[in-house]
Amino acid sequence: MPVCLIITPHMATWNELFSDERFIESLPQPEVYKFVRKLEGIFPDRPLILWDLCCGAGRHTVLLSQMHHLVYGSDIAQNGINHTQKWLDGNGLKAELKVADMTVNPYYGIHFHGVLCWDALHHNTREKITKSVAHVYDNLVRGGLFMVTLLSIKGGAYGQGCEIEQNTFVKNDGFEAGVPHHYFDERDLRDLFKAWKFVILAEQVYSYLETEPDFHLTNPFPYTKWNVIVQK
Ligand SMILES: C[S@@+](CC[C@H](N)C(=O)[O-])C[C@H]1O[C@@H](n2cnc3c(N)ncnc32)[C@H](O)[C@@H]1O
Repeated sequence: MPVCLIITPHMATWNELFSDERFIESLPQPEVYKFVRKLEGIFPDRPLILWDLCCGAGRHTVLLSQMHHLVYGSDIAQNGINHTQKWLDGNGLKAELKVADMTVNPYYGIHFHGVLCWDALHHNTREKITKSVAHVYDNLVRGGLFMVTLLSIKGGAYGQGCEIEQNTFVKNDGFEAGVPHHYFDERDLRDLFKAWKFVILAEQVYSYLETEPDFHLTNPFPYTKWNVIVQK
């Protein structure tokens, strides 16, 4: 493994981005809505108890609350949590929110029917991702579901930055400078969820054949990644 010189100049962090409305995703993913409908079909309990892990600026926390469930959210970015709280308040909605790193368990003792983590869990080293997944497992009821998206080694950004461990890269520039990104192959992914039952394991592969410079700034299409639902 090469020795990496990681220079992290002062670039915008997630926290800074969440203080600027231009960088805030206002629409939830339809997949999250369908995931909640799936949970409603499995569990007769109402409300369901749900955790939006790495909730960001709150688009899914708000959706889950609008769907009349008991919602918990957590994220490392204080501004994301602040934005989520304001969004909830402005719509007369409620959720319990905490600033927390994914490697700590902010809701120890709370038993969730479902947990989701959209486009965030890969922002770490492999060991720390394992730790986060273990907290999710501990907090789920038996039969509870975890929906998560993770980066694939087939993704276009694979290999960018400095490889600090196998398949984990840290970029030196951009708003994610200094943030690790772990890319999974199938074996690694199956290993991460070896204690779980796979409900859905899907690799969504997108090949961009023609693009303009900086197309990703306004790209309406998805990127290559793993889409996973696992059951405790
Ligand atoms: C691409 S955003 C996704 C946010 C949200 N899940 C969504 O779909 O809108 C990635 C999120 O991961 C959060 N994040 C990154 N590293 C984290 C960590 N170590 N612990 C908790 N949250 C983290 C960021 O603050 C950011 O909110």
